[in-house]
Amino acid sequence: MKITEILMAEHVVFHNLFDHLEHNAPRLKTLAELKALAATLETLLRAHSNTEDELFIAPLEHCLEQLGQSETFHEEHEEIDQSLLDVQKTRQLGQARQRLAQAVAACRKHFDKEERSVFPLAERTLKSDTLQALGAAWMKRREAALK
Ligand SMILES: [Fe+2]
Ligand SMILES: [Fe+2]
Repeated sequence: MKITEILMAEHVVFHNLFDHLEHNAPRLKTLAELKALAATLETLLRAHSNTEDELFIAPLEHCLEQLGQSETFHEEHEEIDQSLLDVQKTRQLGQARQRLAQAVAACRKHFDKEERSVFPLAERTLKSDTLQALGAAWMKRREAALK
């Protein structure tokens, strides 16, 4: 499987999670529940973003630089991660809810950009063999993590 197909499949799962968060976060009555949701998203996202940063961005670096996107891509991962960590710091329910909503909105924007421009760019510029090899590297990392 190509790395782009793997990342895209992960995106589908995240879109479901974003829907769930947008629907349920406004109804939650306690700070602990909001923080637990934010922590779940943060943990899952970290694994996804690390895969992109470590396996995907290096081979694409030269193309992303031409688009002026090289720094932005990594920065957006960090910004989203930070906004989710901020949810853990607040003691106010309303603020936690607002921060979480902002983080989900930032995720949607970032995912959309990847789907519209970064993944197609990889499909255009990297060879099919390279995309397959990166997919195999992802599989290996996953197997190692499960041991
Ligand atoms: Fe990303
Ligand atoms: Fe992504």
